[in-house]
Amino acid sequence: AGPGLMDSFGRKATDMRLSLTDKCNLRCTYCMPAEGLDWLQKSAVLSREEIVRLVRIGVDTLGVRELRLTGGEPLVRADLLQIISDIRANHADLPISMTTNGLGLDKKAQALKDAGLSRINVSMDSLHPDTFAQLTRRPFLDRVLRGIEAAAEVGLGLVKINAVLMRGINDQEAPDLLEWAVSKGFELRFIEQMPLDADHGWTRDGMITALEMRTLLEQQFVLTSDPRNRDGAPAERWEVRRIAAPDIVVGTVGIIASVTEPFCADCRRTRVTAEGKIMSCLFSREETDLRDLLRSDADDDAIAARWQDAMWAKPKAHGMGHVGLGSEDFVQPDRSMSAIGG
Ligand code: GTP
Ligand code: 5AD
Ligand code: SF4
Repeated sequence: AGPGLMDSFGRKATDMRLSLTDKCNLRCTYCMPAEGLDWLQKSAVLSREEIVRLVRIGVDTLGVRELRLTGGEPLVRADLLQIISDIRANHADLPISMTTNGLGLDKKAQALKDAGLSRINVSMDSLHPDTFAQLTRRPFLDRVLRGIEAAAEVGLGLVKINAVLMRGINDQEAPDLLEWAVSKGFELRFIEQMPLDADHGWTRDGMITALEMRTLLEQQFVLTSDPRNRDGAPAERWEVRRIAAPDIVVGTVGIIASVTEPFCADCRRTRVTAEGKIMSCLFSREETDLRDLLRSDADDDAIAARWQDAMWAKPKAHGMGHVGLGSEDFVQPDRSMSAIGG
């Protein structure tokens, strides 16, 4: 299947993001409604065998070089360890990472490592139990913190922490979050909130911009651009020094400015939803089903070809960041973040 997952704007997707489930055990306000969503039927979700096959097609014939497991919450999937070890058995050198909310990670970290997971990103927006509970609508901060510690202990790579900043809720906590991450040796990334909440409550004024993030952090830190190549990654990295000791680099912080400084031009991502649809972009209006092919007698080439067609139609950009920073010409997708897969 020729040149891999090219799009009509000359980008090539080599980074596969695969959602293992639409379910989640938190209810982050920027993602899910309080009551949850109508979960997919089990039969609608790709099976372990289907997932392993798709990854094999992606890696062996379409040029996929990195795999990230997402959700919903991937840890709620009962056969997660088996999925990882099956993929690892096929692809000895493939970097396999996972983005998780960390619930239950304390018990599973070692097994995940043993199954072949390379590294992990954990979403954690506040170190204050009340703020955490307000944001996630669940009182589980302690469990998440235990999960993060366990991931670091078993050596699941450099643990990265994702924090979405929300005005008036956790924005003032930004420097403390960074101090905590630096002291623990985690790489913290602050994320601009995107309009992917099921409640459609996102407003541009409510969003903490990347510029504001840096101003908040500069109350306590000196930030200088990290010279390492960004390489298509969402996060722009900054070296961190304390104002009190400006000669010593104490860590790195990432800022993910999806809205105000879009990185669509360098995007290398191809997404597969839990029910086997290709989304060429977080914000694509089009979804391309691969599940019906997986469940027919179609061969690998037919699946690869449809995947390629879907990616060829990848939009140039998401349209949120354009002139005047207005969201007028931007239509929020029907799916929330949890149903797309982080
Ligand atoms: P690393 O390789 O560990 O740096 O992973 P990552 O940052 O790509 O993955 P992660 O799942 O932790 O994503 C962090 C955040 O980046 C997500 O929550 C999104 O806010 C944002 N993000 C990831 N992919 C996209 C994308 O394709 N478009 C946009 N706009 N944002 C994205
Ligand atoms: N905007 C930005 N990031 C979001 N996430 C979930 N919803 C949103 C949103 N509306 C992030 C979570 C997690 C990752 C999977 O996506 O914080 O780190
Ligand atoms: Fe669950 Fe992640 Fe959505 Fe929070 S952001 S509700 S942890 S899927």
